[in-house]
Amino acid sequence: MTFLFNSDAERGTVFRDAFARELPRLPFAIDPASVDTDLVRYIISWTVPDGLERYRNLEILFSVGAGVDQFPLLAIPPEVKVVRMVEDGIIRMMQEYVTLAVLALHRNLPAYLDLQRRHQWQAQPQKQAADRRVGLLGLGVLGRAVLESLKPFGFPLSGWSRSGMTIEGVTTYCGQAGLSQMLGETDILVCLLPLTEDTRGILDCNLFAQLPKGAALVHAGRGAQLDHFTLLAALDAGKLAGAVIDVTEPEPLPSDHALWAHPKVLLTPHVASATQAETAARSVIDNIKRYEAGLDPIGLVDRTRGY
Ligand code: NAP
Ligand code: GLV
Repeated sequence: MTFLFNSDAERGTVFRDAFARELPRLPFAIDPASVDTDLVRYIISWTVPDGLERYRNLEILFSVGAGVDQFPLLAIPPEVKVVRMVEDGIIRMMQEYVTLAVLALHRNLPAYLDLQRRHQWQAQPQKQAADRRVGLLGLGVLGRAVLESLKPFGFPLSGWSRSGMTIEGVTTYCGQAGLSQMLGETDILVCLLPLTEDTRGILDCNLFAQLPKGAALVHAGRGAQLDHFTLLAALDAGKLAGAVIDVTEPEPLPSDHALWAHPKVLLTPHVASATQAETAARSVIDNIKRYEAGLDPIGLVDRTRGY
């Protein structure tokens, strides 16, 4: 039985050392060409490795990232478990990014950067945090962690998920009616949804229309969830006051795209969060131990839901 690491060499070295310490009986391979494909039981990869059908005894395909939209889930043999990345490093970085983005929008940073470029010393009207309602789309591992980071600032918090859940100090919603209700009471909307057929294009004109005038957007889910042209129109019309955008479709964003230079937009190149090798290796090792003890791995993907 073999674990095949199919990702960048730098993370591979960290994984190899951690596996040697924690799972010494499990052979660890980095070069797909060097392995007997029949012996490979586990693979970690960002995309589906070439010739997946050659790994006839594969049991788990681990995603390097939290998202699994890059995997064609229906093309993966049904007996192979697909597991997304749930690890402390990726969670902590997303907490930092969304907190930074929410505070930047709350404190009018896009407007001040624009004023600075124009050498204008001009204070903007400022709300208190208690008067700025923050709504999360997606209450998964990342969405819930982000809510915990935002709690100390005193923003009224709400969140929307598919199945609905209770979170202390957060007003939660589910379903289309719940979404509409939350949007109508949200000043800063944060998208941390996985990309599925249900969430593709969800950040569209119908959604923006339901936000109060002057609301703002933080998008750190997936690029294909956002309609750029609608966002630009909403910003230009004053419907939205600002946006912090980490993910776009396509990536990289073409250099002549209007989002780059828009004065109300802060743009980052899909860096909100990234898998951290040490903590990710720990998480994958723990998951293999769980699985071999007869438990489901943490982050097991439900293929019918697509996440
Ligand atoms: P997760 O734990 O699987 O949580 C997903 C959440 O979205 C759940 O609360 C789920 O609802 C909700 N959801 C899914 N489909 C929905 C729908 N149709 N309607 C309403 N709610 C829906 O995922 P996660 O680990 O938090 O990660 C979320 C996403 O963040 C990833 O898939 C990835 O796209 C993105 N991400 C981005 C970066 C970056 O650097 N920008 C980094 C990491 C991850 P239920 O609770 O009811 O299932
Ligand atoms: C990054 O976007 C991830 O899904 O981990």
